[in-house]
Amino acid sequence: MGKDMAKPKVVVWMPMYDQTGHQWFEEAGADLVVVDSIDAQAVMAELPDAKAIWVRTPERITAEMMDAAPELVVISTSGFGTDNVDIPAATERGILVVNNLGFGRKPVSEHTIMLMLAVMNRLTWGDRATRDGSGWEARTNAGFLELEGSTVGILGLGYIGSELTRKLTTGFRCRVLVYDPYVDKRIPFTVGAEMVDDLDEMLKQISILCICAELTDETREMISKRELELLPKGSIVVNTARGAILDIDALTEALASGHIFGAGIDTTFPEPLPASHPLLKNENVIFTPHTAGLTTSTATAQTRFAVNQVMSIVGGGEPTFPLNREAWEGKVSRQPK
Ligand SMILES: NC(=O)c1ccc[n+]([C@@H]2O[C@H](COP(=O)([O-])OP(=O)(O)OC[C@H]3O[C@@H](n4cnc5c(N)ncnc54)[C@H](O)[C@@H]3O)[C@@H](O)[C@H]2O)c1
Repeated sequence: MGKDMAKPKVVVWMPMYDQTGHQWFEEAGADLVVVDSIDAQAVMAELPDAKAIWVRTPERITAEMMDAAPELVVISTSGFGTDNVDIPAATERGILVVNNLGFGRKPVSEHTIMLMLAVMNRLTWGDRATRDGSGWEARTNAGFLELEGSTVGILGLGYIGSELTRKLTTGFRCRVLVYDPYVDKRIPFTVGAEMVDDLDEMLKQISILCICAELTDETREMISKRELELLPKGSIVVNTARGAILDIDALTEALASGHIFGAGIDTTFPEPLPASHPLLKNENVIFTPHTAGLTTSTATAQTRFAVNQVMSIVGGGEPTFPLNREAWEGKVSRQPK
């Protein structure tokens, strides 16, 4: 039961990226419950009278949980990714699902370039070898690489892929090839990308592959053994999008064989990788724990946006980024009148 029946109950599953968001929800009139546990049962216990739930990736909202929430109007994801919500089940029940678009543009494009440069210059080795003193002997002929003038391939020219392209073409004089069959054809011209219609053709021509697409049935494992083999020997792979787009075992093998020089990995599938996974032992891979989008200013902006969108919907307003508008407009819609 919510504490105050007059106020709409909002459940936040796992604390928000900027926890001031909890206060913003309350200031906007919510009866807020924060569930700081990954236990789905603990969340379900709060759902019978909830009007909204905000869920932090990777926690999953299932059909069973929706059945425990007869008053639920809206499910908000924490960021862009929607793979952790059963959208067809929500649509069937008239529950709106919304996400928060575009917040990765600045931090994720910067993080992607950081990973590229870190792999090319063996940053984690350099840091460790300076601290333990071993680096001074080993620093010549260590195989460091330069980004300027490289040919980079980008999978997915959305907010992040296009900003990354702009930074690479203008800041690093790179040639950028892009595979994205769905992109608005005006965007490549504005950022200096060359579109390629055939993914295989792109892979053969590049030395760095950046994965920036959304995860769909089509992009799932799109970069697998065959695709990695098409990259020239010594290439680099960076994934800051969704782990499941890249077959992590195929990458592990391609690195072990020396075909791929190194990788920068912010997202994996599964996430986190099991502690025994051999990729975690590979020195030519630089990892970050899915933090590419989590800069302080973006966490705040994204949290603020999510609070506003959820409270507007609960109050009967229109969603900014609906994922299943048909749920909102259909016969079983739970849209507040
Ligand atoms: N690592 C992080 O912290 C972090 C943060 C934000 C976003 N992301 C992820 O980054 C990715 C891009 O986010 P965005 O905000 O740029 O999204 P976006 O929707 O603006 O861009 C996604 C692009 O992928 C393209 N695409 C779809 N299917 C494709 C296919 N079959 N082949 C090639 N391209 C395809 C779309 O046309 C679109 O241009 C998403 O996977 C998102 O989940 C990660």
